[in-house]
Amino acid sequence: MKKIKTALFFILLGAVLQANAQKMNPIYLDNTQTIEARVKDALSRMTLEEKVKICTAQSKFSTHGVPRLGIPELWMSDGPHGVRMEILWDSWGHAEWTNDSCTAFPALTCLAATWNPQMSHIYGKAIGEEARYRRKDVLLAPGVNIYRTPLNGRNFEYFGEDPYLASKMVVPYIHGIQENGVSACVKHYVLNNQEKWRGHINVELSDRALYEIYLPAFKAAVTEGKVWSIMGSYNKIRGTYACENDLTLNKILKGEWKFDGCVITDWGGAHNTKEAALNGLDIEMGTGTDGFTSNSKNAYDNYYLANPYLQLLTSGEIPVSNIDEKATRILRLIFRTAMNTNKPFGSLATEEHAAVGRTVSEQGAVLLKNTAHLLPIDASNYKSIAVIGENATRILTEGGGSSELKPKHEISPLQGLKEKFGADKITYAMGYASGKVEYDKVNKSPYEAAKLRKEAVELAAKSDLVIYVGGLNKNSQQDSEGDDRISYSLPFEQNELITELQKANKKIVLVMLSGNAYEMPWLNNATTLFQAWYGGSEAGHAIANVLSGEVSPSGKLPFSFGAKLSDYGSHSYGSIAYPGDSINEIYKEDILVGYRWFDTKKIKPLFPFGFGLSYTSFQYGKIATDKKIYSSDESIKISFTVKNTGKVDGAEAVQVYASQPKASVLRPEKELKAFKKVFLKAGETQTLELEIKVKDLAFFDNTTHSWKVEVGEFVLCNAASSADVKSKVAIQVK
Ligand code: BGC
Repeated sequence: MKKIKTALFFILLGAVLQANAQKMNPIYLDNTQTIEARVKDALSRMTLEEKVKICTAQSKFSTHGVPRLGIPELWMSDGPHGVRMEILWDSWGHAEWTNDSCTAFPALTCLAATWNPQMSHIYGKAIGEEARYRRKDVLLAPGVNIYRTPLNGRNFEYFGEDPYLASKMVVPYIHGIQENGVSACVKHYVLNNQEKWRGHINVELSDRALYEIYLPAFKAAVTEGKVWSIMGSYNKIRGTYACENDLTLNKILKGEWKFDGCVITDWGGAHNTKEAALNGLDIEMGTGTDGFTSNSKNAYDNYYLANPYLQLLTSGEIPVSNIDEKATRILRLIFRTAMNTNKPFGSLATEEHAAVGRTVSEQGAVLLKNTAHLLPIDASNYKSIAVIGENATRILTEGGGSSELKPKHEISPLQGLKEKFGADKITYAMGYASGKVEYDKVNKSPYEAAKLRKEAVELAAKSDLVIYVGGLNKNSQQDSEGDDRISYSLPFEQNELITELQKANKKIVLVMLSGNAYEMPWLNNATTLFQAWYGGSEAGHAIANVLSGEVSPSGKLPFSFGAKLSDYGSHSYGSIAYPGDSINEIYKEDILVGYRWFDTKKIKPLFPFGFGLSYTSFQYGKIATDKKIYSSDESIKISFTVKNTGKVDGAEAVQVYASQPKASVLRPEKELKAFKKVFLKAGETQTLELEIKVKDLAFFDNTTHSWKVEVGEFVLCNAASSADVKSKVAIQVK
């Protein structure tokens, strides 16, 4: 009897062990199954506590894994222009590693200004390789918030004012990153169009503005880019925080667009356990500013989606299906990245990556004015060249907020120009000075402005040519996270300096580095203006290559340069439209953002959206369509020729805009619907073929909450910018 009992005991034990074995075993790598099968299997082995655990941070930039099952942590890093240096476990301090120097790629405004989706792909691939080498699973990039006001401190991290351009540029960037088994994390979803009061401002706007202007780039990222994660923004939307917003997360992102990835908070973007849990948030990062591991109310265990969430699940207040859905999404992200065994190994700060940065920088630089033909510069014509301006030497990869970088090298404009034109010819004067870069703090310059100016003007007066390198920088209240610019004017008394330089020397090439537009009171007296953005590691080489004519400029503006602040739609309706009354902000200009506003209201900008000159010239043939009448499910095939009529090879970003002259609702004067960057040898002609889907001529109808293409006439035009229409053709939609 005893023997039988013992045998029975062992049989039972065996059965229990076998049943548990499935649950207990680590997740061995098994590439024979699909990700979905592996996610399901992993989920079935996890306890409730383990599922909850993976929803929150364990440090500033990583989440918990499941050590018992061998499910790895997720490691994240900023940002859009390079892989940020390592940050300390519990605080924002730099970890001072010695192996984390990266390539600084040009700012996203520069990438957008290339108007070349292929550039976006090589950029995404290169930055993805660096992220992979640095063992990151999620790169917190790119940002696709729309340029609504030139005061927004973070415009330099975004793709400009047009939803179509931003959509076309973001998709290949995501593909490039994710080819490396690294997730892109598109940010900041959504309506984070200013830094001032970003943590709480409540944005009110029409459905139409939301769907036509602010959502398209995010939608493209999800439906075409197949992005694996999205970062919710800090602001509120219609009364609810963006990271806990049923409308934008559950209904639109996960409902309408069928997003199967993870919603990650911006750092500290969660505010309430139940709202976050039920309204679509998956991963919570950076709650509080400390998030210390112990002894603090913000300890990781006390995050909204940590213990407080577990309690609501255990008490039944939130159904277990809620955590199962989140854990499924997080596991999917882990299997796509950290547990992806097919991913390449990546590479860091290579010559190839520097070349990618340089090419993007060259292709993105925009020549705005060249009336005296000072450009391209033939240095043999000049005995002495004065380089003036702090930005010629300032490090522009530090500061700016979370996009700060520790590049392996950074070629300054001064260095690039010296290498190109000869160090012996060049003398440098600072001209103006800003203070030390510090997050959220404006530091005064230690230098005396009048003295710097006098020195620079004297140098300009005795030089054959002046190359002025100025603009904004990455200081707080310039192009920087955390706050907006306080003025549309150039800072650090540059307007006064430029005006005096213009009196001292007629031959001045103005090279401006910024991620934003600015006022130009000196423009009438300027013959030569070159907008060069933030170019990253290879900035100086790229600038020198374009100024010298080795590369013909081909960048075009991704946003309009208004003459004055009050010319912008967002600044035309009082403070409630910008920056808000500190609680609410109403986007009163509605869909009329950027050139849509300038065009429709007949306000002449200094330089229009899509504008940029070249060292050669282009002739556009007449635009033609394959038919005259289309039904709403058809595509319009467009063709026209472009000829390089000048003496040098060059590239032109040709644009096609559409308008609906008679509509039942207000429609912008015109909207970008297609573009292509064409490379043409001197004298070469190409016939371009572009396509627009009739359904993309729709507007978003607030009353029916749907896209609507009205029957009737539409006019399509080919154009060199939003203000330079070459020819038009009318079509009918039946
Ligand atoms: C920024 C994000 C960034 C995050 C982590 C936030 O303050 O808004 O863009 O990814 O910090 O550094």
